[in-house]
Amino acid sequence: MKLKEVVYYAKLLHKQNLVSSTDGNLSIRRDDGFVITPTSIPKRELKVEDLVNLDKNGKQLKNRKPSSEVNLHLEIYKRRKDVNGIVHAHPPFTIALSLIVDSLEEFPLSETIITLGKVKIAPFKMPGSIELAKEVAKVLGEGRAVILKNHGAVTVGGSLQSAYYRMESLEHSSKILFLSKLLGKPSSFTKKQILELNKISNNYGLK
Ligand code: 13P
Repeated sequence: MKLKEVVYYAKLLHKQNLVSSTDGNLSIRRDDGFVITPTSIPKRELKVEDLVNLDKNGKQLKNRKPSSEVNLHLEIYKRRKDVNGIVHAHPPFTIALSLIVDSLEEFPLSETIITLGKVKIAPFKMPGSIELAKEVAKVLGEGRAVILKNHGAVTVGGSLQSAYYRMESLEHSSKILFLSKLLGKPSSFTKKQILELNKISNNYGLK
């Protein structure tokens, strides 16, 4: 079932325009390690047999080449015992915003704060590098989503389903913020309102 789930959400990422071509990668934690999408295969065409099994140290157990971002997934699983699913995608509105601002920590949208909390932007590092993996895991911290400047975004969850829907929420929120920036200067919340929204966040949505 878990393997079919990886393929299902990989295809959904493409269908929802969160990736194009071979972009993006997904993984799911297992008791003995994790399963990740292979490198350079279009998510739209992914099959269960393409998936790659890795042990807890990221060592490959099958004769297939894992995603070039395997270290990014590994670093997050090492730091976050509560994370069981990770999604890396290239959502267009989110990336567009990351090109013009250095921080999107507090989206001025109630549901975004409730669903995603703080969303930090990690500085640019080379795709596939260990530097990117370490930086993203560090900037993500205890968060649910992190934007990779000039590159994409990573979302995490207690399940792959929750990590996937957090990516959808991030892009939906970025689209609204993008459109409002075209119209003028978006309004924002007070610090007190943000604190109250964060409180609701603890008891709401997918974990
Ligand atoms: P992979 O095909 O190696 O997973 O790379 C896709 C990607 O988005 C790299 O950032």
